[in-house]
Amino acid sequence: MSFTSIIVQSSPFDGQKLGTSGLRKAVSVFQQKHYTENFVQSILSALGEQVTGSTLVVGGDGRYFMTEAVKIITRMAASNGVAKLVIGQNGVLSTPAVSCIIRKRSATGGIILTASHNPGGPKGDFGIKYNISNGGPAPESVTNRIFECTKAISEYKTCPDLLVDIGSIGVQEYQVDGRKFIVEIIDSVTDYVDYMKEIFNFGELKAYLTNQEKPFKVVADAMHGVVGPYATRIFCSELGLPSESCINCVPKDDFGGHHPDPNLTYAADLVALMKKGIHAFGAAFDGDGDRNMILGQNGFFVNPSDSIAVIAANAKCIPYFQKTGVKGLARSMPTSGALDRVAKGDGLQLFEVPTGWKFFGNLMDADKLSLCGEESFGTGSDHIREKDGLWAVLAWLSILASRKQTIKEIMKAHWTKYGRNFFTRYDYENVDSEAAQKMMTNLRQLVQEASFVGKCYTEGNKSYTVKLGDDFEYEDPIDKSISKKQGLRIIFEDGSRVIFRLSGTGSSGATIRLYVDSFEANQDRHNMMAADILKPLVTIALKISQLQELTGRQAPTVIT
Ligand code: G1P
Ligand code: ZN
Repeated sequence: MSFTSIIVQSSPFDGQKLGTSGLRKAVSVFQQKHYTENFVQSILSALGEQVTGSTLVVGGDGRYFMTEAVKIITRMAASNGVAKLVIGQNGVLSTPAVSCIIRKRSATGGIILTASHNPGGPKGDFGIKYNISNGGPAPESVTNRIFECTKAISEYKTCPDLLVDIGSIGVQEYQVDGRKFIVEIIDSVTDYVDYMKEIFNFGELKAYLTNQEKPFKVVADAMHGVVGPYATRIFCSELGLPSESCINCVPKDDFGGHHPDPNLTYAADLVALMKKGIHAFGAAFDGDGDRNMILGQNGFFVNPSDSIAVIAANAKCIPYFQKTGVKGLARSMPTSGALDRVAKGDGLQLFEVPTGWKFFGNLMDADKLSLCGEESFGTGSDHIREKDGLWAVLAWLSILASRKQTIKEIMKAHWTKYGRNFFTRYDYENVDSEAAQKMMTNLRQLVQEASFVGKCYTEGNKSYTVKLGDDFEYEDPIDKSISKKQGLRIIFEDGSRVIFRLSGTGSSGATIRLYVDSFEANQDRHNMMAADILKPLVTIALKISQLQELTGRQAPTVIT
């Protein structure tokens, strides 16, 4: 079939700036005439000459507006000279699957349609993100180029008559403006699952999980996100677990009206189920499948900062790392120092990068990094270039199968060996933007004053003396690019840290994130509640920042 492209006149929209992870806005914003088209054209234009003859992977988390976006992308890709699109069936691909497929097929890049853990549906959020040929989120050099294109756009190219069937697996061939244009619709799950079978020992896992005398009860909660079909395939078809092991595994375009974010607040139903004590292992995933939460029996919570530390300390339980070894470790700046202690103990290099997965990619490509994590429920490795929720669960299950201990026992042994970092994050969502900016500006000034160092803050019987205050800045060790203003840090003499950042993923107002990290070597205190240990530091942080006075918020929206 032959098609001819047309050029549509358009003009820039304000604010098509990519945040921590692509462009995220309310669905109604994306539905405006030309809005999505402008952004897609900007991605394609930013590719420059690379676009001609390119192969792009396209898929998303199944949220409302995704299929419309896939149609728009197919038509515009064809008109802009893309040679081939690889699309998940019905447009569905998890974020880790896109990364895996880009790498497997040596694609030029990929377009991911997701707003991750933000709510979906007509009144929810939508998002578009570009990943480069290594399978990872585009670095700032590329996202800046895309943003520049959005500001200068005056027209876009599309092929309005081209209607691709995204429901049927197989290869379709079209002629667009005299060029061949290929669309391959693939099964959403197979490539990813095949890869997991290379990384982990599915035979051993199955034997452990389905042991006749002592079956290991697992529950995986997909929160109605994209993970559903992947989880069912892995846990039920491959590992032989009963179907009730997978809950909320039928994807919905509004995630059942919930917030598909795997944390103690939004995955409260799973926490309640785990508290019944029936299951030894519980996990939840976010809308696009890159985040995970791990729970042990009776709802024992594994803090994500600890999760990556435990996986790193036990990497030898995973066949992939038996082959590759562990080249280095990395965490985002606000993530607790638990991983640093594993690096120190095991003689590995540790990198501290700004928030956002895009900062890990260069280190992995340079063979300097194997395992990394973020406190925001992101865990992953250099097997792909995105964080990977199901990979994290399979990593934990491999450790459990190998050590034959419970999650709680493993955590306790870990703290005894390395010490414990207590960590919490307070989120103040949808705060008035001006108030949030004012707080950050005041605080930036304060922490950078010479007299700030040495100041002592006392709360109850705890005193903390400031060792360092700054606005975190990162120089990428590989490409030497510099990222400034990545979060205000206050580091105290005892190593405790208080960090303030504004979220780069919200779609309205501002979200203030307050992170508190405190190390405790004393084993007698490891069983204490994180909230109790961290309370004095939280109070000090609120005092220093004047958060409550400036924003009018007495309590956070979410505490993790
Ligand atoms: C949040 C998390 C960050 C994560 C990102 C994408 O970004 O804090 O760690 O990489 O989502 O999942 P933020 O909203 O804080 O900018
Ligand atoms: Zn996500």
